[in-house]
Amino acid sequence: MSSLSLILKPLSIPTFISDNPNIKTFIFQRNIPPPCKSHCHTERGHQFDVGDTFFRSESATARDLGVLSAALYRNTTGSLRVLDAMCGCGIRSLRYLAEAEADFVVANDANENTRDIILGNLSRVASGSEEGKRWEVNHLPATRLLAECYLRKDYFDLIDVDSFGSGSSYLRVALDAVKLGGLLYITSTDGLSSGGHRPQQSLAAYGAYVRPLPYSNEIGLRMLIGGAVREASVLGYHVVPLFSYYSYHGPVFRVLLQVKRGKSLSSRYYGFISYCNRCGNTRAFSWNELGEISCPCSTNVKRSIVVSGPLWTGPLHSAPHLTEMMSLADQWGWFGDEEGKNLEKLLKQMIDESDPKLPVGYLNADEIASRAKLNLPPLSVIMNSLHEGGYAVSRSHIAPNAIKTDCPMVVCVKIVKHLQQAAEMSSCH
Ligand SMILES: C[S@@+](CC[C@H](N)C(=O)[O-])C[C@H]1O[C@@H](n2cnc3c(N)ncnc32)[C@H](O)[C@@H]1O
Ligand SMILES: [Zn+2]
Repeated sequence: MSSLSLILKPLSIPTFISDNPNIKTFIFQRNIPPPCKSHCHTERGHQFDVGDTFFRSESATARDLGVLSAALYRNTTGSLRVLDAMCGCGIRSLRYLAEAEADFVVANDANENTRDIILGNLSRVASGSEEGKRWEVNHLPATRLLAECYLRKDYFDLIDVDSFGSGSSYLRVALDAVKLGGLLYITSTDGLSSGGHRPQQSLAAYGAYVRPLPYSNEIGLRMLIGGAVREASVLGYHVVPLFSYYSYHGPVFRVLLQVKRGKSLSSRYYGFISYCNRCGNTRAFSWNELGEISCPCSTNVKRSIVVSGPLWTGPLHSAPHLTEMMSLADQWGWFGDEEGKNLEKLLKQMIDESDPKLPVGYLNADEIASRAKLNLPPLSVIMNSLHEGGYAVSRSHIAPNAIKTDCPMVVCVKIVKHLQQAAEMSSCH
């Protein structure tokens, strides 16, 4: 039996609270429990009940990605203990147990009213009871649960924090409670901050001053990774993103990080991003280049350039890890149906996006078209031309109507105009 189950008791009043007294507290009153209706769902062949818990079937892909990474981790290390800090109905815990064959899962949700649903779902999939061998259920605020684990030196291989909002307040305690070499799966739903609409909020949450940029959803991922980089370095660790996943439902930004001992050798992937409104050029600047931020198109930097940061400026994913995820998903027969085809396409796009030559951001087709003042040919045609010109290029899993490339916007606009002229000439002949 895990020592955790003896120590961590639910709060005496059923509360859904933050550990921070300044943050709004929701209290579910004990004497009027919400009715728990039965709502059965199936995901990857597992039947489960979501009752009145917070559940989104659209997040199935995010769960697929987490489970694949967890299974790979278990295959490599031979063990897998998972802390599902905000488990809702327990679907992730269930899948970590059933598919990734976790040795032990702590399923936690601050809302005590989820208890019967979680217990019911987990007992279906894995032998055990509340005091059981492979899982247990808790109802503590995530910060407190994670802090207790840290204090007890009870470290986990995978900590999954599927939070609402910025999620940044869980970063430090989650890093404290994860094993070195272990995985941290974190979430942010703070689309306003990534859109640059609340720079003071992004500064408070992630230490990054974020301004509006044409690729704000990629910035959302970079802001989250950057926040984790900062928190990890305080503890003498560094983190490596194994994958980063943006989903427009929400929107939701998710990142799976591997936590490693030692500060990163260089801060080359933690810096500033400039975007020039005049020519559409994006550049990453390191800390020691701060005084040199400029754009070749203009000397009036103040008027044309928007700077955000510090943010993660390195690769969003690890291609070798994604490649292993692909082959495992294939081995599990996950690519067979329509849903599976989407997952396969997503993983392929993420692998393409991992090309280290690809810089921060992407070029939106609409922006290229409006700068070139013409209707664009299909993106595949533009991508071929960029390839032929020696540029790195890929689609973005974040924006279907965009391309990632190391070709500057100005050059891309010229290439598009050239393509148009060539098309006009060939239609004349
Ligand atoms: C996004 S939902 C989780 C969904 C679930 N992981 C899934 O994949 O279906 C977030 C959950 O966190 C719980 N929650 C909110 N604040 C919490 C806190 N401070 N500590 C622990 N759980 C919390 C909510 O009750 C809610 O069930
Ligand atoms: Zn410029």
